Amino acid sequence: MSSSVGWYARHSQEDEERWRVVALLHDFDYEIHPTLDQHPQDGAAILREEGYPEDVIEAVLSHAEHLQMPRDTQLKKTLFACDELSGFVHACGLVRPTGLDGLEPKSVLKKLKQPSFAAGVHRDEVYAGAEALGLELDEHIRNVVAALQPIAPQLGLRTAETAPAS
Ligand SMILES: [Fe+2]
Repeated sequence: MSSSVGWYARHSQEDEERWRVVALLHDFDYEIHPTLDQHPQDGAAILREEGYPEDVIEAVLSHAEHLQMPRDTQLKKTLFACDELSGFVHACGLVRPTGLDGLEPKSVLKKLKQPSFAAGVHRDEVYAGAEALGLELDEHIRNVVAALQPIAPQLGLRTAETAPAS
């Protein structure tokens, strides 16, 4: 997820480090606040105590659908758009012998239409995310695949080089 958000920052000359920090932080409190009456609101209070800047905190808060905050910056839009899709693309890579190598948007689109595959991923948020970015979904998928490819080994994914012999 932070790689996807970082990719977008880099490709739009934004502050990549700041964007990555927001992506890394956005669910930091999920384990101590696993329910929506606490996450991420109570996490924001912790960040505030720690002295994080208000724009970072606001962006973290904005990823939560239930807070219905306006996604009025490119960072907020990108965070939302990359959240569910990054996990979904990761899942697609896990079930392929070559991981993300050669993964085409059309096969990701096909898997999005199979409700049983990575069932926890909210499809409506994936579609809304691309729309928020003003991108066709296949283009957004292509970008996220490109963002995750360089860290495939860290994600536990095989690559074309490490694919099992068939
Ligand atoms: Fe969250």
